[in-house]
Amino acid sequence: MPQTVTLIPGDGIGPDITQAVVRVIEATGADIAWETHQAGVAALESSSTPLPQETIDSIRRTRLALKGPLTTPVGVGFRSINVALRKEFDLYSNVRPARTLVPGGRYEGIDLVLIRENTEGLYSGVEHYIGIGDDPRAAAESVMLVTRFGVNRILRYAFEYAVAHGRRKVTLAHKANILKYTQGLFLDMGKEIAREYEGRVEFEDRIIDATAMMLVMDPYRFDVIVCENMFGDILSDQIAGLVGGLGLAPGANIGKDAAIFEAVHGSAPDIAGKNVANPAALLLAAVMMLQHMGMREQAERIRLALEATIREGDALTPDLGGAGTTDSFTDAVLRRL
Ligand code: NAI
Repeated sequence: MPQTVTLIPGDGIGPDITQAVVRVIEATGADIAWETHQAGVAALESSSTPLPQETIDSIRRTRLALKGPLTTPVGVGFRSINVALRKEFDLYSNVRPARTLVPGGRYEGIDLVLIRENTEGLYSGVEHYIGIGDDPRAAAESVMLVTRFGVNRILRYAFEYAVAHGRRKVTLAHKANILKYTQGLFLDMGKEIAREYEGRVEFEDRIIDATAMMLVMDPYRFDVIVCENMFGDILSDQIAGLVGGLGLAPGANIGKDAAIFEAVHGSAPDIAGKNVANPAALLLAAVMMLQHMGMREQAERIRLALEATIREGDALTPDLGGAGTTDSFTDAVLRRL
């Protein structure tokens, strides 16, 4: 029986890079049946909503989606569909690995993973203005909402991830010295849960600002980093920068009932339809998805073929300094599979 996966081609460069990734996955012989559904601007063009019910129903059925980037209109129009999907399926864990792929960059041999809480904290959207006198916007307040439930599940996810992926250490990055309640809850529960993993996974805690500095000075001391939503948002782009930017950064949004895999970059409207988009980040997201599905051999074959293609540099797309196209890059990966 093939495993069914929902495929969302997305907007801008999305259809080109998803098509490239599906070609590579199919070449490994992975037994996957794709259910293609639209979201974002593409969905709005064919139906009246940027997140059609059939797309939601498909993910609910398959519990897995590979998603191209979705355009979010600025100012007017609909809200982010990425955020809507995270809420709809309670995808509480955002997993962002950073691994050196392009030799000759600022750092060699980086290999770390950031696990970001995806549903709570300052991004829970509880904010308002406070009027004083005749100024209705004299002050503004955002609530950093942290629940024991939310902290418990993200920390456990981080430790379980470390065990499942043979990682040696979990670093909890926090600001419990200042935010004694919200971040204190994170730190206390981190120490508590770490005891259950003693002897299997090392644990340390670090203040978030010191973590940011150490990531630049000595990234090799980190392995798995776990933190709350906004800190994770910032650190995840920082670690992408350590390995050459967003063009090679994959991400997974994982919940109890569904998981959505995507590239970290957006729909790149400036190069859409030009056949120059780099499919590598989405391909790395597909590698994460195959690992998640237990198809480790196929995942490893794609990862090695992609790494060799980037290392040998014969078909690189312009963002990686080459003169290749989406098609020639994909063909080069396929040749090496
Ligand atoms: P972007 O990531 O789409 O583009 C930034 C720059 O990187 C552009 O110059 C683009 O050409 C380049 N770039 C991005 N991906 C590339 C690739 N695979 N190959 C070669 N070059 C690539 O970010 P931007 O322009 O801020 O956002 C465009 C749209 O994407 C917006 O509507 C935004 O909301 C959306 N977006 C969606 C995301 C998602 O669906 N996960 C994530 C980030 C942004």
